Amino acid sequence: MNQNKIWQGNWTFILAAAGSAVGLGNIWKFPYMAGTNGGSAFVLIYFLCILLIGLPVMMAETYLGRYGRKSPINSIKKVVTDFNLSFYWKILGWLGAIAGLMILSYYSVFAGIAAAYIFNFMPSNEVDPVYYSLNYFSEFVGSPMKMIFWHTLFLGITCFIVGKGVIDGIGKTINFLMPTLFLLIILLCIYSSFTGDFLRAFNFLFDADFSKISTSVIIAAMGQAFFTLSIGMGAIMAYGAYMPEDQPIAKTIPVIIILDTSVALFAGLTIFPIVFSNPILSVSSGPGLLFETLPIAFSSLPYGSIFSSIFFILISIAAVSSSVSLIEPFTAWVEEQQIFTRKLGVIILGLFAWILGLGSIFSFNIWKEIFIFGFDFLSLMDFLTNNIMLPFGGLAICLLVGWVLEKEKMKKDLKMNSGFYNFFIICLKYVAPISIGTIFLSYFFS
Ligand code: PHE
Repeated sequence: MNQNKIWQGNWTFILAAAGSAVGLGNIWKFPYMAGTNGGSAFVLIYFLCILLIGLPVMMAETYLGRYGRKSPINSIKKVVTDFNLSFYWKILGWLGAIAGLMILSYYSVFAGIAAAYIFNFMPSNEVDPVYYSLNYFSEFVGSPMKMIFWHTLFLGITCFIVGKGVIDGIGKTINFLMPTLFLLIILLCIYSSFTGDFLRAFNFLFDADFSKISTSVIIAAMGQAFFTLSIGMGAIMAYGAYMPEDQPIAKTIPVIIILDTSVALFAGLTIFPIVFSNPILSVSSGPGLLFETLPIAFSSLPYGSIFSSIFFILISIAAVSSSVSLIEPFTAWVEEQQIFTRKLGVIILGLFAWILGLGSIFSFNIWKEIFIFGFDFLSLMDFLTNNIMLPFGGLAICLLVGWVLEKEKMKKDLKMNSGFYNFFIICLKYVAPISIGTIFLSYFFS
């Protein structure tokens, strides 16, 4: 590893990892999943998954990256060589790099829609906002050309940033984007607490109703925990490779997790009051919550169209800071192996994601009727990555770090006290693998 590729100061790693974690998963997926899975019941299970699976896996993944100091594929390879492990472990690095491109392919489609919505101004004299909004969305997604335009633009920006390098591209952009993001979300949350039904939103998110907990809520919450923390595919491992040697992992990762969870909750506390303020709207409208329901709600609020644009700027910022981390693991490998330069490498990988993304675009329109194993193309990508590849990657990371790596050195490197260390090891060795395994089995028997 070239010494130029170490983040400057402790904050860059924190902001970069938080940038990766905070994304569409927090601002779009979390609110709609909470909305469709019984609100507080989902939130409770989600918190448990974050604490018992997310925290240990994220620490382990960062540690693996810093241990290897290379791209995830080569960091895993180093562990395999150092500990004389079976060749099959190497699959982990590859699976992650491929999962990154697969996620990026559809992530960029949704991020593109969000970016386009910055410019969606509902006419102030519109007599039927509901019709306007639903029609706007269906016309937008019904047009492959429009979607391809925004998908290309978003992916282009992502590749441009990554092509500029880890320090000058990703590091500098993140240092500017993340503080902006935090400011915007606080601003929006204040706006929505003044204009919307804040109390009802608060109860919806925090009033625990255990009767709503079911296997499908648990599966959804675990998938969401992996996705939102960007764990199980190497994004965090890649960033861990650029982390300063003396930065305490045990103190750093909880900060990232708190930031990620706070943004998800703030997003919920921004969106739900606005939606609840309008009696005809429902928070359980699913993926359309942001693009169909929310614009209707904004339209009846003071300065609604300005705040609606600010809201979509926020989502676009969150999405860029995540998408760069989806393509970085593979790009780092291509550069390391000197197959291509970083710039050419990211263009070629971006092209793969772009082509794959067309499938997701078409599943809104010309491939609407085409199903593979009962899924349309987009849902298949989403299911394979979030519900299979990320948890599988997470499981492998737990086993590798929990059962294989040398513990004494790790305890010192992570800078943990004994209590936290024991919690970490028990979660990595038993709690997380057993939970992930059980949830996996439940797919096949349900
Ligand atoms: N964590 C990101 C989000 O919440 C998505 C992501 C997943 C990014 C995996 C990188 C790796 O939107």
